[in-house]
Amino acid sequence: MNHIITIDGPAGSGKSTISRILAKKIGYSYLDTGAMYRAVALVAKRKGVGFHDDKGLGILCNSLNLQFDRDADPPRLLLGKEDISGLIRSPEMDMLSSKVSAVGEVREAMTGLQRKIAKGSGYVAEGRDMGTVVFPEADWKFYLTASCESRAGRRYEELLGRGETVLRNVVEADLKKRDNQDRNRPLSPLRPAEDALIIDSTTLTIEEVVEVMLNHLKQS
Ligand code: DC
Repeated sequence: MNHIITIDGPAGSGKSTISRILAKKIGYSYLDTGAMYRAVALVAKRKGVGFHDDKGLGILCNSLNLQFDRDADPPRLLLGKEDISGLIRSPEMDMLSSKVSAVGEVREAMTGLQRKIAKGSGYVAEGRDMGTVVFPEADWKFYLTASCESRAGRRYEELLGRGETVLRNVVEADLKKRDNQDRNRPLSPLRPAEDALIIDSTTLTIEEVVEVMLNHLKQS
């Protein structure tokens, strides 16, 4: 049986970077499930499918040709042959992906796809419901959190780095709104699995968080 490590947590908690580094260090593959919800949002917008059209979104999900190019570092997300990795990272896609992720048909399709992708080799899977819903039998589970202020600060720096023109207070307000949506939706809300190790990264560096995780893997 292949081993799965889950890392869940809110936006800006450092999940993606940390998951990628951890996966590399232990020779596992890395699964960015947020990117998959972002891809659904991008295609829904392109095709004009309403964000409350549950049935239409379900049909769209089942016809998506999504693939991760794992040879690239960081891995790229391909829609057919199109590399959509950059397009899905805008502030607009932050909010739209959170919206589509609340729809049952979308969650069902993505959960199936995530389980299919992770079959057969070791995976570090990051998202919101990895430890609670998608991989409840995972070998190790982590929940990464940090103060809202520090998460907003990281997100702000990340967006500036991508060349986006954004205001710090708008980034923080959007982050709070998205957290609220992701935590309070009825289906697979963001919360730590009961058996997850909770790590607060507010005052830790990325390397320190990875170290805490590696120690936990060694001990259990
Ligand atoms: O991790 P991220 O910021 O790229 O995720 C974008 C949105 O996708 C997030 O606001 C909620 C949703 N999401 C989810 O509902 N379940 C997951 N496993 C991953 C992401």
